[in-house]
Amino acid sequence: MVCLGNICRSPLAEGILQSKVDSEAVFVDSAGTAGYHVGNPPDKRSIAVAKKYGLNITHQKCRKFSRQDFLEFDHIYVMDRSNFSDVASLATNKEEASKVKLLLSEVEVGIQEVPDPYYGGEDGFENVYQMIDRACEAIAKKLN
Ligand code: 4NP
Repeated sequence: MVCLGNICRSPLAEGILQSKVDSEAVFVDSAGTAGYHVGNPPDKRSIAVAKKYGLNITHQKCRKFSRQDFLEFDHIYVMDRSNFSDVASLATNKEEASKVKLLLSEVEVGIQEVPDPYYGGEDGFENVYQMIDRACEAIAKKLN
């Protein structure tokens, strides 16, 4: 799960998808395309909305996406088109590039990108939680 900062959207996506799959069989992680917050926990507002739905994401630590991730992961879900081009530009072949998908391409929610809630209020976090949850439900059905 990849977003820009790895403190708002992708930590939620990591926590939500991991909660819906068999953790013995599926490993979920998240990363950011930027390194501004490396080593930090998720944003307080992501932690709060996750807690509201029974998920603890406080243990997560921000890291930057790297080329190595193409070797370690079968699927790379990105939150928006900017993330898509940043990640896809690091792919070294077609097989790696084909792993990169917009998260919302898994569902019909009327939009294709998970909006960045960083500069908005709490409502934005609830909104992104709901769309990420729907997409993760669809992904989990395929993986389980
Ligand atoms: P995220 O949100 O990509 O969903 O983690 C952001 C977090 C931090 C920044 C931008 C977006 N930032 O500019 O620091």
